[in-house]
Amino acid sequence: MGPFALGGRPHRVYHEKSCMPDPTGYAELDALIPRLQAIPGLSPDALASEIVAVLGRKNGELTLALRSVPTRPPEERKSYGAAVNRLKVEFEQAFARRGEALDAERRSREQAALDLTMPSRRRWIGAEHPVTRVIAEIVEIFRGLGFTVAVGPEVESEWHNFIALNFPPNHPAMDMHDTLYVDAPPLAGDQGGRLLLRTHTSPVQIRTLLESPPPVRVVIPGMVYRNDPFDPSHAPVFSQIEGLAVDEGISFVDLKATLVHFAHQFFTPTTKVRFRPSFFPFTEPSAEMDVECQLCHGSGCPACKGTGWMEILGCGMVHPAVFEHTGVDPERYTGWAFGMGPHRITMLRYGIPDIRLLYDGDMRFLEQFVPAAGQRASGAAGRHA
Ligand code: PHE
Repeated sequence: MGPFALGGRPHRVYHEKSCMPDPTGYAELDALIPRLQAIPGLSPDALASEIVAVLGRKNGELTLALRSVPTRPPEERKSYGAAVNRLKVEFEQAFARRGEALDAERRSREQAALDLTMPSRRRWIGAEHPVTRVIAEIVEIFRGLGFTVAVGPEVESEWHNFIALNFPPNHPAMDMHDTLYVDAPPLAGDQGGRLLLRTHTSPVQIRTLLESPPPVRVVIPGMVYRNDPFDPSHAPVFSQIEGLAVDEGISFVDLKATLVHFAHQFFTPTTKVRFRPSFFPFTEPSAEMDVECQLCHGSGCPACKGTGWMEILGCGMVHPAVFEHTGVDPERYTGWAFGMGPHRITMLRYGIPDIRLLYDGDMRFLEQFVPAAGQRASGAAGRHA
């Protein structure tokens, strides 16, 4: 049975050019064919040196072969030259194909090194600063009692900060060394005299009463400044919340009831509260309010210095001199005021030992106050039950 038995068409053998080139008939050229066939397996370095070895301008095998054409017997020259050129094209194509294949391999290796499964950088979820939250909670409690919010300037006049609040002239608190004065001329039309960084939010009592006649019920959050060192229990810049209620028939009972209600809302419904006599020039009588230590609940611990109590605010009945300075009729109206420090209250509530932690902006500290997902603790939402 001949080779054509399976079909009518002549059986044709295809030589895959690159893997089985036709022999040239010249022994020294045919000796190169195995090297041509080996090209698809060459490494990048071997490829580079093989290109030089075969096609190199000086000593490449095929370069030398071409150069030898004129030395051949005349009848051979044409076919030998043609055979060299064919082989040269085959080598060039094989080198180019191997080069492309190596490039493709390198690219896919590089892509594999790009690990797209690496976890992305964690997104930081912003949260209110603990002091900001405490301020919002306190304001929210007073809002529930019908108080509105007022604000005033941090650069204040000596008159609003001291004189109108009944500080006697030349009171030591007004001393240049005790308070931070601002080196700027007094505001035009302002009766206030020298400018300073307000030392408390009480000057906004004066601004409020000058602007709106009673009845008045306001809370006044804001930053205040004192010539204090920056140590574990002091900061030269800190927050206060002032409260002011002025109306007919207001008594110390209203003051006490309001502040006790506040303490029960802000801390716990059973938190004990006590008032101690105190002194402020702009209230009479004056008191300081303590709450049961939030850490030891009254038994005494380092945070409350063993007393079981923590002072959270100063308060008292508005002094008639304040009414005089603001044109409120003291025969008709009475009122009370308080001032508390949210930075201190934040420390008491969370047992923070050093006030400077509240200023550092250290994420390791602040992250501990980020509310768990779903319970954004602003205002009433985050208040203790
Ligand atoms: N302004 C006082 C202080 O900074 C606090 C205070 C406010 C006291 C209102 C009584 C009434 O210490």
